[in-house]
Amino acid sequence: CGIVGYIGNNDSKEILLKGLEKLEYRGYDSAGIAVINSNGVHIFKEKGRIADLRNAVDHSVKANAGIGHTRWATHGPPSKGNAHPHQGSAARLTLVHNGVIENYDRLKREYLPNVELNSETDTEIIVQLMELFVNEGLNTEEAFRKTLTLLHGSYALALIDEQNVDTILVAKNKSPLLVGLGDGFNVVASDAMAMIQVTNQYVELMDEEMVIVTKNEVTIKNLAGAVVSREPYTAELDAGDIEKGTYPHYMLKEIDEQPLVIRKIIQSYQDGEGALEMDSDIVATMQEADRIYIIAAGTSYHAGLVGKQFIEKLTKIPVEVHISSEFGYNMPLLSEKPLFIFISQSGETADSRQVLVQVKEMGYKALTITNVSGSTLSREADYTLLLHAGPEIAVASTKAYTAQLAVLAILAEVTARGIGHEVDFDLVQELGIVASAMETLCDDKEEFESIAHEYLTVTRNAFFIGRGIDFYVGLEGALKLKEISYIQAEGFAGGELKHGTIALIEEGTPVIALATQEFVNLSIRGNVKEVAARGANPCIISMSGLETDEDRFVLPEVNSLLTPLISVIPMQLISYYAALHRNCDVDKPRNLAKSVTVE
Ligand code: G6P
Repeated sequence: CGIVGYIGNNDSKEILLKGLEKLEYRGYDSAGIAVINSNGVHIFKEKGRIADLRNAVDHSVKANAGIGHTRWATHGPPSKGNAHPHQGSAARLTLVHNGVIENYDRLKREYLPNVELNSETDTEIIVQLMELFVNEGLNTEEAFRKTLTLLHGSYALALIDEQNVDTILVAKNKSPLLVGLGDGFNVVASDAMAMIQVTNQYVELMDEEMVIVTKNEVTIKNLAGAVVSREPYTAELDAGDIEKGTYPHYMLKEIDEQPLVIRKIIQSYQDGEGALEMDSDIVATMQEADRIYIIAAGTSYHAGLVGKQFIEKLTKIPVEVHISSEFGYNMPLLSEKPLFIFISQSGETADSRQVLVQVKEMGYKALTITNVSGSTLSREADYTLLLHAGPEIAVASTKAYTAQLAVLAILAEVTARGIGHEVDFDLVQELGIVASAMETLCDDKEEFESIAHEYLTVTRNAFFIGRGIDFYVGLEGALKLKEISYIQAEGFAGGELKHGTIALIEEGTPVIALATQEFVNLSIRGNVKEVAARGANPCIISMSGLETDEDRFVLPEVNSLLTPLISVIPMQLISYYAALHRNCDVDKPRNLAKSVTVE
């Protein structure tokens, strides 16, 4: 979910709606705004997208303050009733909330046994509690603080009070929230992107802090009520970076940006002489580790699987890769000197953050690889490596994945050199070749459009197979296709197919096979023959130098360790065109959100 707030001299509705549009990547099943003027609070909500909300707003209402929310449902299905803002029974206080309140059931029983609720959300409990405490005689700020001390779970909150039109109260715990500073106005947002049109000055909030925001002042307090002072920072975001320009979709723009991102990464991690370098503390921590644990979710997890190959091959340090949501309950036996690497595009994924908190409590070192400087995972880890990919807006991750691979490769190379292991190739040069190969692929879009049409128009399922590093790219290819086209897709290790999944092969089932590795080239082609003999429609994507006449597409040659950086591009483009053909909403696929800040 995402939240926004504005208080100043202008009409707040448009600023809130524009802010929500920029936050739509965080959730888009329902949305709402509440604006406040001397006539009281006016709430507009709608199931669906921000565009639907925009149509539902009464544009004749003028108000200089307001709050807004775009939702990714957790408690209660997407509906107008469950959309935020929520009010207490007396309709005095109005609240938007991102996060999950774990003890809402108990709070309801204990404090609000006779209160009839209007929605199925945990959020309503928060605002009902605040109203209860106000009715008992506390002022709004005291009631707000008292309520916060009772909440267990994650929250970013913004509240308006009908009896005080000059103030927005905000607070956060675990969920991200920023306050933006303007001249004669102030704003609140889950992400600087939402408000970058109006200000680039932001104040970071820490967990268990609250803020009193008026048009001229921002006062941060801790839950005991003591004032906390903090300097603002300048968000390094260019408003132009978050527009899609002439592209029909952000996803296509972001796929095309990949060569540029790789070049930017090379530059960002080069020293004056052009050699790759990284913060020496990070390199020393890598070298001291006897085992590395990579923790990530979704596409970042897939990048971790490839990263393991880079690190193990170059540094000889053993690496385990774990899905963050599983790790907490299912912790493996840890080595003596573990190092944790968190990979996260957004730096906000709650599943990963929960592991970070856990391992920090255990006293271990953590490194976050993320696209967002100042994000929660970056702030809370000991070290950060940035992806320099620019904002990624399409829900399906593309340029962040290849950026993660490039940064992991550099980390592996720099560490290996530090240890004294020989790296028998020049990574700067090899990544340069990768960037050029990416350009060639991005210029070949018609080819991938025609592959999508040939293989994926009528099918209800598809398989991606590969061996070694190609298997991991197949997993990512399958995820891309699932996410945006809703075709049921699975990635398999080529050799594993015959142990069960081959039973699913029918006449015409598409099987996309990756063949970029010489040492398994014959074996993967053997697997293709097995499925073809059972009626499958195989589509072989191979690497130049390994190709045969039966291949559907041949990738330009790059260093054999770095092939995932380019073999994933056909996967991304094929998925894109398959989704377009099915009239799916490419940038905002159903049920998903880009940044999932709930566990
Ligand atoms: C969400 C997104 C995925 C993403 C995953 C991890 O589920 O829909 O595309 O891969 O989160 O996100 P992160 O920001 O931690 O990389």
